[in-house]
Parts: sequence; structure tokens; C-alpha cells
Amino acid sequence: MITLLSHLSYVALTTRDVDASVDFYVTHVGMTEVARDEDRVYLRTWGDYYSYSLVIERGDETALHSMAWRTASAEALEEAVRRIEAKGGVGEWFDGHDIGRAYRFVGPWGHTMVLHWDAVHHRYTQGELASTFPDRPQRRSRLAGAPRQLDHVTICASDVDAFCQWYHEVLGFRIMARTVLEEAPISVFSVLTTNEKSHDLGVVLDGSTRSGRVNHYAYWYDTREEMLIAADLLMEAGVHIEYGPTIHGIGEQSFLYYREPSGMRVELNTGGYRNYVPDWEPQTWKTSQGSYDIYRNSSMPLSLTESFPPADGPTATEEGVPDEIKGDLLRDKA
Ligand SMILES: [Fe+2]
Repeated sequence: MITLLSHLSYVALTTRDVDASVDFYVTHVGMTEVARDEDRVYLRTWGDYYSYSLVIERGDETALHSMAWRTASAEALEEAVRRIEAKGGVGEWFDGHDIGRAYRFVGPWGHTMVLHWDAVHHRYTQGELASTFPDRPQRRSRLAGAPRQLDHVTICASDVDAFCQWYHEVLGFRIMARTVLEEAPISVFSVLTTNEKSHDLGVVLDGSTRSGRVNHYAYWYDTREEMLIAADLLMEAGVHIEYGPTIHGIGEQSFLYYREPSGMRVELNTGGYRNYVPDWEPQTWKTSQGSYDIYRNSSMPLSLTESFPPADGPTATEEGVPDEIKGDLLRDKA
């Protein structure tokens, strides 16, 4: 198969309180607002190569509106669409903000995906955001702990292996690893990639009847020290660190999780291996081997199984932020 996809280019979050999330990402994550219209705001980190990597949209509940993948070429975009539709998929072409003619489809487990080739290559060449490094799209954020760029997204599916097989066969994702239950060969987690990263798409088993859910998305640091500084700053801003910092066995990244104001889980990560092997054979892990946490000396909080939108309906209050999360987030603002 020719290479169809290059990498994850943006994720779009829906929330009832757009302003709360935008303020959080600008103030505490060091992101820059680059555009907005009536319903959505576009944000970028200092290292994102295109205009934006995060879209925040108004919606009835916290969810992932869509995730976007840049194709390897204009021809690859056409071929990807041909393959999706040959499998019975139905999508639509639309004109996206700074991504031109793009194709949006809903995958077989209910996830809205956008494919695009066109993209605005973002680079400040003058002014206070211009970098002294010519290859950098923007100077480094002045906020210590600001991540460099978008890294991956982890969604939920009722059949992890079947999900991976579909995205492998249709769009060419490489399947990199899987975790099965201790007592039965049932996959509870798997990772796929479009490039040399250990993964840019994760899949967790979803026992709910709701399709198209997401567990988290992740931003990247060059170094573990920057991620630890981010943890320090988030805690001092009153943000609860849900899990970590520690190290995933699968992928070998250092990571931590926290929640942003909509309740959505955000992962910060760094490190891990690079894997270029085109015919990689994925290993089957068990949790007892440290697939999730290689140190195996702490229990994963039950809250990590919460995904979005909630399995049994909206959790957002009239104010847009769930009360149980609001208390932990931004204590200085609540
Ligand atoms: Fe992750």
C-alpha cells in the first residue's frame, strides 16, 4: 500500500464553555489563539507546524468533534477517500479553515475523521513571535512548561482489534502493540501509528453502548524536565494531576494526565522510541507486564476509564463545567 497518511494535524473539542477552555489553554498551556468565529476558536502551540492543532467548539457536552489527519500527498487523499468509500464508508467534502478541500467521514466505530492535504505552513518571520531558529514556526513560549506540539489522540471502541484492523487495512495505520486481559485474549488497548512515532492513535476498549467516544488527546515535550515543570505549574494553578508522571511500557513515553475545564482529559508526554519498521509485528502485552505503567507500583485511578461524551448522557452543568471537576481545576478562578 502507498503511504496514505502523514500525521495527526488537529483535534476538535466540543464543550459548553468555550471561553473557559480557551482561557485555560492560553493561560496555563501557553497556546496562542490564531482565529475564531461565532462557534469555534483555533489554537496553536509554539511548535505546531500548521496554523492550529486544537479547535474548541460550542457543543452540548464534552466530546471530540473530530480528529484530522494530513495525507501524504494530494493523490493519497483521493486514494484514501476511494478506499473508505469502497468499504462502504460515507463522507463529505468541505472547505476547512486553513486546510482547503477536506474530506470528513464517520468511521465504523462512530469517530468523525477529517482527511486533508492542503495546509497553511505556519511561520512567523517577523515580530515578537518570530524565532531565531529558521525552522521553528514560532519562538518558544515564554510560559515554562508549554508543550511543543500535538502528539496523539486516544479513542474508544467496542472491539479494539477490529478497529485496528479496519484502520490498518483501509488507511494504512501500522498496528504497534496491544494489551489483553490477564485471564482472556480480549484486547483492552492498542496503539497505531501513521509515522515513526510509537503511536498517534490509541484505542481503549469501550463497554458502553455509545459510539465515537474519546479518552484523551496528548501534547508533546522535547524533554521530561519540561513535562515535570508543567506538572509543577499545573498543580500550583490548582489543576489536579489525574495520574503520573510515570512511564508507559507500550511506547516507553513519560506521561501524565490532567483535565482541562470541560473535563476532557489531556495527556502530556515525551520520550519513547522511534519505530520505522514497515512490517512491524505488534507484541501482545498484559497489564501485569507494565503496559500502562512500567513501574507497576501504583494503581491506575478508576477515573481514567471515564471517556467522552459520557456513556450515560451529559455531565456538564448549566455553567458548563462539572462541579466535581470545577473544584479541582483552577482553584484561583473558581
Ligand atoms: Fe495517550
